[in-house]
Amino acid sequence: MSWWREGVLYQIYPRSFADSDGDGIGDLRGITARLDHLEWLGIDGIWLNPTMPSPNHDWGYDVADYCAVHPDLGTLEDLDELVAEAGKRGIRVLQDLVPNHTSDRHAWFQDALTGRDAAHREHYVWADPRPDGGPPNNWLSVFGGPAWTLHEPTGQYYLHNFLPSQPDLNWWNDAVRDEFDRILRFWYERGIAGFRIDVCHAIVNDRDLRDDPVATEADHPKVYERGLRAEFSMNRPEVHDVLKRWRRLSGDRILVGETYVLDLDQLIPYYGAGEDQLHLAFNFLFVHADLVPAELRGIVEAIEEKLPAGAWPVWTGSNHDAGRLATRWAAGHEDRTRCALLMLLTLRGTPFLYYGDEIGLPEGEVPPERRLDPVPDNRDGGRTPMPWTDDPAPAMWLPLLDASRNVADQRADPGSVLHLVRDLIALRRDRDDLRRGDYETLPAPRGAWVWRRGEATTVAVNLSDAPLTVEARGTVLIATDRSRDGTPFDGALPAWSAVVVDG
Ligand code: GLC
Ligand code: MG
Repeated sequence: MSWWREGVLYQIYPRSFADSDGDGIGDLRGITARLDHLEWLGIDGIWLNPTMPSPNHDWGYDVADYCAVHPDLGTLEDLDELVAEAGKRGIRVLQDLVPNHTSDRHAWFQDALTGRDAAHREHYVWADPRPDGGPPNNWLSVFGGPAWTLHEPTGQYYLHNFLPSQPDLNWWNDAVRDEFDRILRFWYERGIAGFRIDVCHAIVNDRDLRDDPVATEADHPKVYERGLRAEFSMNRPEVHDVLKRWRRLSGDRILVGETYVLDLDQLIPYYGAGEDQLHLAFNFLFVHADLVPAELRGIVEAIEEKLPAGAWPVWTGSNHDAGRLATRWAAGHEDRTRCALLMLLTLRGTPFLYYGDEIGLPEGEVPPERRLDPVPDNRDGGRTPMPWTDDPAPAMWLPLLDASRNVADQRADPGSVLHLVRDLIALRRDRDDLRRGDYETLPAPRGAWVWRRGEATTVAVNLSDAPLTVEARGTVLIATDRSRDGTPFDGALPAWSAVVVDG
């Protein structure tokens, strides 16, 4: 088995994790200084949100240079140091790869703007206006409005599935493919253990720029709400050729896709056949499901049934876009947060924690005048500074108004969420069943979810307001109510509680 299947991964938003130089912006040296925390927690790998130079219209997801470090975050040497120091602690580092689009400040785009025959013109997707002067087709930007902007000096529209300052790359152009081969190799040579691939499903756009079809009620509510089903603007089958190419180039490094598709039948192909595409494909149906057994269990069972042999699930409840599980799933109730974390760490698959999940951090309040996210559906609340101590950090780039949940206090309290997460990670490490055992749903009353892992491990979760009794018996290994650890399990599950049982 491989480190990334059996390990626990951890997402770091570098601007908010730890600030080493007091300029109010988290940085690479700050992360290095906090590696001991991650080692103590039992983390095997970290994914860094983009660390490359960027004008930050979309906070790093508008890359101006793929092979350098944003000066706010440090230098390439700082990154090398982070990789080396993480390595000493058995922690691998994944970078964020943003291949769908660049910043409009990127040298390629700046050149592309100089004329229709510029050397890098075809690195991007250009199209003539319709006869009435309008955009070439009906595609919509994920961030609202049309996905096309007219560049008047050259008389053509360019494509941007996100902000107008994030022009889409043209993946039909072999030169773009070659550039990215070089970018992957550049990072691999620096010791990077793999990539999280931004909007992985969107990289290739329809060559003929066909209109997206109108969404119907049969689509996922989020797609229906958007109005169009992104069948041609994204999700093209040719994306799989790009992923195969990267897989061949990657050797033992891993590829984790932000595969934002809200239909499992569209998700499965990203794993490829015979381990030739992504190692892990994030499951956004799970992220967006409610903390309700029937919903979550249905998704887990479907994945268990549909994943090809050799493919491995990945489970997450928080990230820098969807926000934090302590708020979205648990509505700020700590008992619910504990249940959600226990579930993530005991399903079959690789868990990704988001910085702050380990202390049950809810979304931060960001007053309107301090909001920085360009997207109307503001994501700042899930990106606020990591509370290391009870000292709020109002001078950080985003404010931290409430530091009552913080690492220092929880570390001193063996009953804290932090210790629960650490103990669950340690239990995974010790127990083959939890790392590699099969998943099997067991009978459970409505409101509960019970599953077996491997030979002799049972997990029982009560996600309801009422006490329930389940059939499982054995000895409690870890419970969300820590006073039950090591006691016999008689099947009783108080409201919003969970247990891992030997038996
Ligand atoms: C991905 C990122 C998100 C960003 C978008 C556009 O969805 O996770 O933060 O805004 O891509 O790059
Ligand atoms: Mg700093």
